[in-house]
Amino acid sequence: MTTRYRVEYALKTHRRDQFIEWVKGLLAVPFVLYSQPTGVFGDGPNVAKMAEEAHRRYAEIMRDVEMMIDDHISRQKQNQALTQDGTINHGHGHGHGNFLCPPLPSKLGMLVPTAGPFFTRLPLEAAFKYQDRKRYISSRRYVAPSFNDVRLVLNSAQIMAVTGGALQLATFDGDVTLYDDGESLEPSSPIIPRLLDLLRKNIKVGIVTAAGYTTADRYYERLHGLLDAIAGSADLDDAQKQSVVIMGGEANYLFALDLGSPHRLSPVPRARWLTPEMAAWSEADIAALLDVAESALRDCVRTMNLPATLVRKDRAVGIVPTDPSVRIARESLEETVLVVQRILELSSLGAASSPSAHRGPGAATGGVPFCAFNGGRDVFVDIGDKSWGVAVCQQWFGHGAGTAMRGENTLHVGDQFLSAGSNDFKARSVGTTAWIASPAETVELLDELADLMQKKLS
Ligand code: IMP
Ligand code: MG
Repeated sequence: MTTRYRVEYALKTHRRDQFIEWVKGLLAVPFVLYSQPTGVFGDGPNVAKMAEEAHRRYAEIMRDVEMMIDDHISRQKQNQALTQDGTINHGHGHGHGNFLCPPLPSKLGMLVPTAGPFFTRLPLEAAFKYQDRKRYISSRRYVAPSFNDVRLVLNSAQIMAVTGGALQLATFDGDVTLYDDGESLEPSSPIIPRLLDLLRKNIKVGIVTAAGYTTADRYYERLHGLLDAIAGSADLDDAQKQSVVIMGGEANYLFALDLGSPHRLSPVPRARWLTPEMAAWSEADIAALLDVAESALRDCVRTMNLPATLVRKDRAVGIVPTDPSVRIARESLEETVLVVQRILELSSLGAASSPSAHRGPGAATGGVPFCAFNGGRDVFVDIGDKSWGVAVCQQWFGHGAGTAMRGENTLHVGDQFLSAGSNDFKARSVGTTAWIASPAETVELLDELADLMQKKLS
Protein backbone atom coordinates (compact mmCIF):
# COMPACT_ATOMS: atom_id res chain seq x y z
CA MET A 1 0.00 0.00 0.00
CA THR A 2 1.57 3.29 -1.01
CA THR A 3 1.68 6.23 1.31
CA ARG A 4 -0.22 8.30 -1.25
CA TYR A 5 -3.09 5.83 -1.21
CA ARG A 6 -3.13 5.75 2.57
CA VAL A 7 -3.24 9.52 2.82
CA GLU A 8 -5.98 9.78 0.20
CA TYR A 9 -8.02 7.08 1.87
CA ALA A 10 -7.54 8.09 5.43
CA LEU A 11 -7.91 11.80 4.96
CA LYS A 12 -10.49 12.04 2.26
CA THR A 13 -12.37 9.14 0.75
CA HIS A 14 -14.05 7.84 3.85
CA ARG A 15 -15.18 11.35 4.78
CA ARG A 16 -17.12 11.93 1.55
CA ASP A 17 -20.25 10.54 0.07
CA GLN A 18 -19.22 10.81 -3.56
CA PHE A 19 -22.73 10.59 -4.99
CA ILE A 20 -24.04 13.42 -2.81
CA GLU A 21 -20.94 15.53 -3.49
CA TRP A 22 -21.38 15.00 -7.22
CA VAL A 23 -25.05 16.10 -7.19
CA LYS A 24 -24.10 19.09 -5.04
CA GLY A 25 -21.47 20.02 -7.64
CA LEU A 26 -24.05 19.89 -10.44
CA LEU A 27 -26.41 22.17 -8.49
CA ALA A 28 -23.61 24.65 -7.81
CA VAL A 29 -23.56 25.68 -11.48
CA PRO A 30 -27.07 27.20 -11.69
CA PHE A 31 -26.53 28.64 -8.21
CA VAL A 32 -23.50 30.56 -9.44
CA LEU A 33 -25.20 31.60 -12.66
CA TYR A 34 -28.63 32.57 -11.31
CA SER A 35 -28.23 33.72 -7.73
CA GLN A 36 -28.48 37.48 -7.19
CA PRO A 37 -26.24 38.30 -4.24
CA THR A 38 -25.93 42.02 -5.05
CA GLY A 39 -29.28 43.57 -4.16
CA VAL A 40 -30.28 43.43 -0.51
CA PHE A 41 -33.29 45.77 -0.18
CA GLY A 42 -36.10 46.67 -2.48
CA ASP A 43 -35.55 44.03 -5.12
CA GLY A 44 -38.40 41.72 -4.11
CA PRO A 45 -39.60 40.97 -7.64
CA ASN A 46 -36.02 40.21 -8.73
CA VAL A 47 -35.51 37.73 -5.93
CA ALA A 48 -38.82 36.04 -6.73
CA LYS A 49 -37.82 35.81 -10.39
CA MET A 50 -34.40 34.51 -9.50
CA ALA A 51 -35.91 31.86 -7.23
CA GLU A 52 -38.25 30.77 -9.99
CA GLU A 53 -35.42 30.44 -12.49
CA ALA A 54 -33.11 28.67 -10.01
CA HIS A 55 -35.93 26.29 -9.10
CA ARG A 56 -36.50 25.42 -12.75
CA ARG A 57 -32.80 24.74 -13.33
CA TYR A 58 -32.30 22.73 -10.15
CA ALA A 59 -35.37 20.63 -10.95
CA GLU A 60 -34.08 19.98 -14.47
CA ILE A 61 -30.76 18.77 -13.11
CA MET A 62 -32.51 16.48 -10.65
CA ARG A 63 -34.59 15.05 -13.48
CA ASP A 64 -31.43 14.39 -15.50
CA VAL A 65 -29.82 12.59 -12.54
CA GLU A 66 -33.05 10.64 -12.09
CA MET A 67 -32.78 9.43 -15.67
CA MET A 68 -29.14 8.48 -15.22
CA ILE A 69 -30.15 6.37 -12.23
CA ASP A 70 -32.83 4.69 -14.37
CA ASP A 71 -30.14 3.82 -16.90
CA HIS A 72 -27.85 2.59 -14.10
CA ILE A 73 -30.63 0.34 -12.77
CA SER A 74 -31.34 -1.17 -16.18
CA ARG A 75 -27.63 -1.99 -16.63
CA GLN A 76 -27.53 -3.38 -13.12
CA LYS A 77 -30.36 -5.74 -14.11
CA GLN A 78 -28.66 -6.74 -17.38
CA ASN A 79 -25.40 -7.46 -15.61
CA GLN A 80 -27.19 -9.45 -12.92
CA ALA A 81 -28.96 -11.55 -15.54
CA LEU A 82 -25.66 -12.19 -17.29
CA THR A 83 -23.99 -13.16 -14.02
CA GLN A 84 -26.83 -15.44 -13.07
CA ASP A 85 -26.96 -17.45 -16.29
CA GLY A 86 -23.21 -17.99 -15.83
CA THR A 87 -22.28 -17.14 -19.41
CA ILE A 88 -20.08 -14.26 -18.47
CA ASN A 89 -18.23 -14.96 -15.32
CA HIS A 90 -19.09 -18.52 -14.35
CA GLY A 91 -20.00 -17.41 -10.86
CA HIS A 92 -16.64 -15.93 -9.99
CA GLY A 93 -18.22 -12.61 -9.14
CA HIS A 94 -16.25 -9.99 -11.05
CA GLY A 95 -16.52 -10.85 -14.69
CA HIS A 96 -13.05 -12.28 -15.20
CA GLY A 97 -14.27 -15.54 -16.69
CA ASN A 98 -14.97 -14.38 -20.22
CA PHE A 99 -12.89 -11.91 -22.19
CA LEU A 100 -15.47 -11.28 -24.87
CA CYS A 101 -17.98 -9.08 -23.08
CA PRO A 102 -17.31 -7.80 -19.57
CA PRO A 103 -20.32 -6.09 -17.97
CA LEU A 104 -20.65 -2.50 -19.17
CA PRO A 105 -20.67 0.20 -16.51
CA SER A 106 -23.41 2.81 -16.66
CA LYS A 107 -22.61 6.47 -17.26
CA LEU A 108 -23.40 7.09 -13.60
CA GLY A 109 -21.11 4.22 -12.65
CA MET A 110 -18.31 5.88 -14.61
CA LEU A 111 -18.90 9.32 -13.08
CA VAL A 112 -19.43 8.07 -9.52
CA PRO A 113 -17.72 4.68 -9.24
CA THR A 114 -18.91 4.21 -5.65
CA ALA A 115 -22.61 4.57 -6.56
CA GLY A 116 -25.15 1.77 -6.24
CA PRO A 117 -26.76 -0.66 -6.03
CA PHE A 118 -30.14 1.05 -6.34
CA PHE A 119 -33.07 -1.10 -5.30
CA THR A 120 -35.70 1.30 -6.62
CA ARG A 121 -35.77 4.18 -9.02
CA LEU A 122 -35.54 7.57 -7.30
CA PRO A 123 -38.06 10.29 -8.25
CA LEU A 124 -35.52 13.06 -7.64
CA GLU A 125 -37.34 15.85 -9.47
CA ALA A 126 -40.51 15.40 -7.40
CA ALA A 127 -38.45 15.00 -4.25
CA PHE A 128 -36.53 18.19 -4.98
CA LYS A 129 -39.78 20.11 -5.49
CA TYR A 130 -41.06 18.79 -2.17
CA GLN A 131 -37.90 19.77 -0.26
CA ASP A 132 -37.71 23.14 -2.03
CA ARG A 133 -41.20 23.96 -0.73
CA LYS A 134 -39.99 23.08 2.75
CA ARG A 135 -36.46 24.51 2.74
CA TYR A 136 -36.63 27.35 0.17
CA ILE A 137 -33.42 26.14 -1.43
CA SER A 138 -34.06 28.11 -4.64
CA SER A 139 -34.68 31.36 -2.75
CA ARG A 140 -31.21 31.42 -1.24
CA ARG A 141 -28.78 33.91 -2.73
CA TYR A 142 -25.71 33.32 -0.58
CA VAL A 143 -25.79 29.67 0.36
CA ALA A 144 -25.64 27.14 -2.46
CA PRO A 145 -27.54 23.83 -2.34
CA SER A 146 -25.74 21.99 0.42
CA PHE A 147 -24.81 18.48 1.34
CA ASN A 148 -27.77 18.37 3.74
CA ASP A 149 -30.16 19.69 1.07
CA VAL A 150 -29.12 16.86 -1.25
CA ARG A 151 -29.22 14.25 1.54
CA LEU A 152 -32.80 15.27 2.39
CA VAL A 153 -33.85 15.28 -1.27
CA LEU A 154 -32.49 11.74 -1.60
CA ASN A 155 -34.38 10.67 1.54
CA SER A 156 -37.63 12.11 0.16
CA ALA A 157 -37.07 10.39 -3.17
CA GLN A 158 -36.48 7.08 -1.42
CA ILE A 159 -39.61 7.52 0.69
CA MET A 160 -41.64 8.34 -2.44
CA ALA A 161 -40.25 5.21 -4.11
CA VAL A 162 -41.23 2.78 -1.36
CA THR A 163 -44.72 4.10 -0.67
CA GLY A 164 -47.58 2.88 -2.82
CA GLY A 165 -47.47 -0.66 -1.49
CA ALA A 166 -43.78 -1.57 -1.73
CA LEU A 167 -42.76 -1.02 1.89
CA GLN A 168 -43.01 -4.19 4.00
CA LEU A 169 -40.18 -3.81 6.49
CA ALA A 170 -38.79 -0.68 8.15
CA THR A 171 -35.63 -1.10 10.23
CA PHE A 172 -34.25 1.55 12.53
CA ASP A 173 -30.88 2.18 14.08
CA GLY A 174 -31.03 3.09 17.80
CA ASP A 175 -28.62 5.81 18.96
CA VAL A 176 -29.14 9.18 17.21
CA THR A 177 -31.98 7.70 15.07
CA LEU A 178 -34.62 6.81 17.69
CA TYR A 179 -33.08 8.65 20.66
CA ASP A 180 -30.09 10.87 21.39
CA ASP A 181 -26.70 9.17 21.68
CA GLY A 182 -26.63 6.95 24.76
CA GLU A 183 -30.22 7.78 25.76
CA SER A 184 -33.35 5.61 25.72
CA LEU A 185 -36.71 5.58 23.96
CA GLU A 186 -38.83 7.25 26.64
CA PRO A 187 -42.66 7.03 26.64
CA SER A 188 -42.91 10.72 25.68
CA SER A 189 -40.91 10.30 22.47
CA PRO A 190 -42.82 11.52 19.39
CA ILE A 191 -41.31 8.61 17.48
CA ILE A 192 -43.41 6.04 19.36
CA PRO A 193 -46.87 6.89 17.93
CA ARG A 194 -45.30 6.97 14.47
CA LEU A 195 -43.82 3.49 14.89
CA LEU A 196 -47.19 2.22 16.11
CA ASP A 197 -48.72 3.75 12.99
CA LEU A 198 -46.38 1.65 10.81
CA LEU A 199 -47.47 -1.49 12.67
CA ARG A 200 -51.11 -0.52 12.19
CA LYS A 201 -50.40 -0.41 8.46
CA ASN A 202 -49.02 -3.98 8.67
CA ILE A 203 -45.45 -2.88 8.10
CA LYS A 204 -42.90 -4.94 10.06
CA VAL A 205 -40.44 -3.07 12.25
CA GLY A 206 -36.90 -4.07 13.18
CA ILE A 207 -34.68 -2.16 15.59
CA VAL A 208 -31.20 -2.94 14.28
CA THR A 209 -28.77 -1.48 16.76
CA ALA A 210 -25.09 -2.01 17.41
CA ALA A 211 -25.78 -1.93 21.14
CA GLY A 212 -25.01 -5.50 22.10
CA TYR A 213 -26.59 -7.03 25.21
CA THR A 214 -27.25 -10.70 25.90
CA THR A 215 -30.34 -10.18 28.07
CA ALA A 216 -33.80 -8.72 27.56
CA ASP A 217 -33.65 -6.38 30.55
CA ARG A 218 -30.97 -4.21 28.93
CA TYR A 219 -32.98 -3.77 25.73
CA TYR A 220 -36.10 -3.08 27.77
CA GLU A 221 -34.15 -0.32 29.53
CA ARG A 222 -33.28 1.29 26.19
CA LEU A 223 -36.63 0.71 24.42
CA HIS A 224 -39.22 0.55 27.21
CA GLY A 225 -41.27 3.47 25.87
CA LEU A 226 -41.96 1.62 22.65
CA LEU A 227 -42.39 -1.84 24.18
CA ASP A 228 -44.86 -0.63 26.81
CA ALA A 229 -46.80 1.36 24.21
CA ILE A 230 -47.16 -1.72 22.01
CA ALA A 231 -48.28 -3.81 24.98
CA GLY A 232 -50.86 -1.20 25.97
CA SER A 233 -52.14 -0.40 22.52
CA ALA A 234 -55.85 -1.10 22.06
CA ASP A 235 -55.97 -0.89 18.29
CA LEU A 236 -53.12 -3.22 17.30
CA ASP A 237 -54.08 -6.86 16.82
CA ASP A 238 -51.86 -9.69 18.07
CA ALA A 239 -50.14 -10.24 14.73
CA GLN A 240 -49.31 -6.53 14.50
CA LYS A 241 -47.93 -6.56 18.02
CA GLN A 242 -45.68 -9.47 17.05
CA SER A 243 -44.37 -7.54 14.05
CA VAL A 244 -41.40 -6.04 15.88
CA VAL A 245 -37.99 -7.57 16.49
CA ILE A 246 -34.88 -6.22 18.15
CA MET A 247 -31.62 -7.12 16.40
CA GLY A 248 -28.78 -6.26 18.77
CA GLY A 249 -24.99 -6.17 18.42
CA GLU A 250 -25.54 -5.41 14.68
CA ALA A 251 -26.39 -9.05 13.85
CA ASN A 252 -25.78 -11.04 17.01
CA TYR A 253 -28.81 -11.11 19.33
CA LEU A 254 -32.41 -11.44 18.18
CA PHE A 255 -35.27 -10.66 20.55
CA ALA A 256 -38.93 -11.19 19.69
CA LEU A 257 -41.84 -9.53 21.47
CA ASP A 258 -43.16 -11.44 24.45
CA LEU A 259 -45.64 -9.02 25.95
CA GLY A 260 -46.47 -11.21 28.91
CA SER A 261 -42.89 -11.29 30.19
CA PRO A 262 -41.57 -8.58 32.54
CA HIS A 263 -39.21 -7.12 29.93
CA ARG A 264 -41.66 -7.70 27.08
CA LEU A 265 -38.98 -9.46 25.03
CA SER A 266 -37.60 -12.93 24.82
CA PRO A 267 -34.34 -14.01 23.20
CA VAL A 268 -34.65 -16.17 20.08
CA PRO A 269 -32.03 -18.97 19.95
CA ARG A 270 -29.50 -18.44 17.15
CA ALA A 271 -30.39 -21.75 15.52
CA ARG A 272 -33.81 -20.25 14.65
CA TRP A 273 -32.59 -17.19 12.84
CA LEU A 274 -29.00 -17.43 11.60
CA THR A 275 -28.84 -17.38 7.81
CA PRO A 276 -26.99 -20.41 6.37
CA GLU A 277 -23.93 -18.26 5.71
CA MET A 278 -23.92 -16.90 9.25
CA ALA A 279 -24.23 -20.41 10.65
CA ALA A 280 -20.95 -21.19 8.91
CA TRP A 281 -18.95 -18.61 10.90
CA SER A 282 -16.98 -20.73 13.35
CA GLU A 283 -16.80 -19.88 17.03
CA ALA A 284 -13.02 -20.34 16.90
CA ASP A 285 -12.68 -17.82 14.02
CA ILE A 286 -14.94 -15.37 15.85
CA ALA A 287 -12.83 -15.60 19.01
CA ALA A 288 -9.59 -15.30 17.02
CA LEU A 289 -10.89 -12.20 15.21
CA LEU A 290 -11.92 -10.55 18.46
CA ASP A 291 -8.49 -11.37 19.95
CA VAL A 292 -6.74 -9.61 17.09
CA ALA A 293 -9.15 -6.66 17.34
CA GLU A 294 -8.59 -6.46 21.09
CA SER A 295 -4.84 -6.32 20.76
CA ALA A 296 -5.11 -3.65 18.01
CA LEU A 297 -7.40 -1.58 20.24
CA ARG A 298 -4.99 -1.93 23.18
CA ASP A 299 -2.15 -0.74 20.94
CA CYS A 300 -4.17 2.33 19.95
CA VAL A 301 -4.98 3.14 23.57
CA ARG A 302 -1.28 2.91 24.39
CA THR A 303 0.18 4.77 21.41
CA MET A 304 -2.30 7.64 21.56
CA ASN A 305 -2.56 7.57 25.34
CA LEU A 306 -6.36 7.46 25.08
CA PRO A 307 -8.43 8.01 28.24
CA ALA A 308 -10.22 4.76 27.39
CA THR A 309 -11.03 1.36 28.84
CA LEU A 310 -11.31 -1.85 26.87
CA VAL A 311 -14.64 -3.71 26.86
CA ARG A 312 -14.68 -7.32 25.69
CA LYS A 313 -17.99 -9.08 25.03
CA ASP A 314 -18.75 -12.45 23.48
CA ARG A 315 -19.47 -10.94 20.05
CA ALA A 316 -17.75 -7.56 20.23
CA VAL A 317 -14.79 -5.67 21.57
CA GLY A 318 -14.56 -1.94 22.05
CA ILE A 319 -13.05 1.00 23.87
CA VAL A 320 -15.17 3.41 25.91
CA PRO A 321 -14.13 6.54 27.84
CA THR A 322 -12.79 5.61 31.26
CA ASP A 323 -14.51 8.69 32.69
CA PRO A 324 -17.92 9.02 30.96
CA SER A 325 -17.73 12.81 31.22
CA VAL A 326 -14.52 12.93 29.15
CA ARG A 327 -14.80 12.79 25.37
CA ILE A 328 -12.12 11.03 23.35
CA ALA A 329 -11.07 13.27 20.45
CA ARG A 330 -12.86 12.48 17.20
CA GLU A 331 -9.54 12.18 15.38
CA SER A 332 -8.36 9.55 17.87
CA LEU A 333 -11.59 7.57 17.47
CA GLU A 334 -11.32 7.66 13.68
CA GLU A 335 -7.63 6.72 13.75
CA THR A 336 -8.47 3.77 16.00
CA VAL A 337 -11.19 2.55 13.63
CA LEU A 338 -8.93 2.79 10.59
CA VAL A 339 -6.02 1.04 12.35
CA VAL A 340 -8.17 -1.82 13.63
CA GLN A 341 -9.97 -2.21 10.30
CA ARG A 342 -6.67 -2.43 8.45
CA ILE A 343 -5.16 -4.94 10.86
CA LEU A 344 -8.23 -7.18 10.67
CA GLU A 345 -8.34 -7.01 6.88
CA LEU A 346 -4.67 -7.96 6.67
CA SER A 347 -5.08 -10.77 9.20
CA SER A 348 -7.17 -12.94 6.82
CA LEU A 349 -9.53 -13.59 9.72
CA GLY A 350 -11.85 -10.76 8.72
CA ALA A 351 -13.99 -10.77 5.58
CA ALA A 352 -15.52 -7.76 3.89
CA SER A 353 -18.64 -9.52 2.67
CA SER A 354 -22.37 -8.94 2.79
CA PRO A 355 -25.30 -11.37 2.56
CA SER A 356 -25.26 -13.56 -0.54
CA ALA A 357 -28.41 -12.43 -2.28
CA HIS A 358 -26.59 -9.28 -3.30
CA ARG A 359 -23.18 -10.70 -4.06
CA GLY A 360 -24.49 -13.01 -6.74
CA PRO A 361 -24.70 -16.75 -6.41
CA GLY A 362 -21.65 -18.78 -5.62
CA ALA A 363 -19.47 -15.92 -4.40
CA ALA A 364 -16.91 -17.28 -2.01
CA THR A 365 -16.76 -16.35 1.64
CA GLY A 366 -13.67 -16.60 3.78
CA GLY A 367 -13.16 -15.20 7.22
CA VAL A 368 -15.81 -13.64 9.40
CA PRO A 369 -17.47 -10.32 8.47
CA PHE A 370 -17.00 -7.59 11.06
CA CYS A 371 -17.81 -3.95 11.54
CA ALA A 372 -15.36 -1.56 13.18
CA PHE A 373 -16.93 1.83 13.70
CA ASN A 374 -16.72 5.15 15.51
CA GLY A 375 -19.83 5.35 17.70
CA GLY A 376 -19.30 9.06 18.48
CA ARG A 377 -17.88 8.54 21.95
CA ASP A 378 -16.48 5.03 21.59
CA VAL A 379 -15.11 2.54 19.08
CA PHE A 380 -16.54 -0.95 18.70
CA VAL A 381 -15.71 -3.95 16.57
CA ASP A 382 -18.76 -6.20 16.15
CA ILE A 383 -19.07 -9.60 14.52
CA GLY A 384 -21.18 -9.18 11.39
CA ASP A 385 -22.66 -5.81 10.49
CA LYS A 386 -26.05 -4.23 9.81
CA SER A 387 -26.31 -5.76 6.33
CA TRP A 388 -26.50 -9.11 8.12
CA GLY A 389 -28.76 -7.70 10.82
CA VAL A 390 -31.25 -6.33 8.29
CA ALA A 391 -31.00 -9.56 6.25
CA VAL A 392 -31.98 -11.52 9.35
CA CYS A 393 -35.08 -9.31 9.76
CA GLN A 394 -35.92 -9.86 6.07
CA GLN A 395 -35.66 -13.61 6.55
CA TRP A 396 -37.50 -13.65 9.89
CA PHE A 397 -40.52 -11.75 8.64
CA GLY A 398 -40.42 -13.33 5.19
CA HIS A 399 -40.75 -16.85 6.50
CA GLY A 400 -44.53 -16.78 6.41
CA ALA A 401 -44.30 -16.11 2.69
CA GLY A 402 -41.59 -18.73 2.27
CA THR A 403 -38.90 -16.30 1.11
CA ALA A 404 -36.98 -13.42 2.59
CA MET A 405 -38.33 -9.92 2.08
CA ARG A 406 -36.54 -8.11 -0.70
CA GLY A 407 -34.34 -5.03 -0.74
CA GLU A 408 -36.91 -2.93 -2.61
CA ASN A 409 -39.46 -3.71 0.12
CA THR A 410 -37.09 -2.75 2.95
CA LEU A 411 -36.13 0.67 4.30
CA HIS A 412 -33.34 1.09 6.87
CA VAL A 413 -33.21 4.44 8.69
CA GLY A 414 -29.92 5.39 10.36
CA ASP A 415 -27.41 8.13 11.07
CA GLN A 416 -24.05 6.47 10.35
CA PHE A 417 -23.32 6.69 6.65
CA LEU A 418 -20.10 8.67 6.66
CA SER A 419 -18.00 8.45 9.82
CA ALA A 420 -15.23 5.85 9.94
CA GLY A 421 -16.76 2.39 9.75
CA SER A 422 -20.28 3.90 9.40
CA ASN A 423 -22.36 0.94 10.55
CA ASP A 424 -25.68 1.98 8.95
CA PHE A 425 -24.00 2.36 5.56
CA LYS A 426 -23.57 -1.42 5.47
CA ALA A 427 -27.35 -1.84 5.29
CA ARG A 428 -27.25 -0.28 1.82
CA SER A 429 -26.21 -3.60 0.32
CA VAL A 430 -29.47 -5.31 1.34
CA GLY A 431 -32.17 -2.63 1.15
CA THR A 432 -33.08 0.98 0.58
CA THR A 433 -31.89 3.48 3.19
CA ALA A 434 -32.65 6.91 4.57
CA TRP A 435 -29.89 8.93 6.21
CA ILE A 436 -31.06 11.07 9.10
CA ALA A 437 -29.01 13.32 11.39
CA SER A 438 -31.16 13.38 14.56
CA PRO A 439 -34.26 11.81 16.14
CA ALA A 440 -36.16 14.96 15.08
CA GLU A 441 -35.34 14.19 11.45
CA THR A 442 -36.61 10.62 11.96
CA VAL A 443 -39.93 12.12 13.09
CA GLU A 444 -40.10 14.29 9.96
CA LEU A 445 -39.24 11.33 7.76
CA LEU A 446 -41.95 9.16 9.31
CA ASP A 447 -44.48 11.98 8.86
CA GLU A 448 -43.50 12.29 5.23
CA LEU A 449 -43.91 8.54 4.84
CA ALA A 450 -47.35 8.54 6.50
CA ASP A 451 -48.54 11.52 4.39
CA LEU A 452 -47.51 9.86 1.17
CA MET A 453 -49.07 6.53 2.10
CA GLN A 454 -52.29 8.35 2.91
CA LYS A 455 -52.22 10.29 -0.37
CA LYS A 456 -51.45 7.21 -2.44
CA LEU A 457 -54.30 5.32 -0.76
CA SER A 458 -56.89 8.00 -1.44
P1 IMP B 1 -26.55 2.24 17.31
O1 IMP B 1 -26.49 3.68 16.94
O2 IMP B 1 -27.93 1.85 17.79
O3 IMP B 1 -26.06 1.32 16.24
O4 IMP B 1 -25.64 2.03 18.63
C1 IMP B 1 -24.26 2.27 18.62
C2 IMP B 1 -23.75 2.45 20.02
O5 IMP B 1 -24.08 1.35 20.88
C3 IMP B 1 -22.25 2.49 20.09
O6 IMP B 1 -21.75 3.75 19.80
C4 IMP B 1 -21.96 2.09 21.53
O7 IMP B 1 -21.95 3.24 22.34
C5 IMP B 1 -23.14 1.25 21.95
N1 IMP B 1 -22.79 -0.16 22.18
C6 IMP B 1 -23.06 -0.83 23.31
N2 IMP B 1 -22.67 -2.12 23.20
C7 IMP B 1 -22.14 -2.26 21.98
C8 IMP B 1 -21.60 -3.39 21.28
O8 IMP B 1 -21.51 -4.51 21.77
N3 IMP B 1 -21.17 -3.15 20.02
C9 IMP B 1 -21.28 -1.94 19.43
N4 IMP B 1 -21.79 -0.87 20.04
C10 IMP B 1 -22.23 -1.03 21.32
MG1 MG C 1 -26.74 5.34 15.41
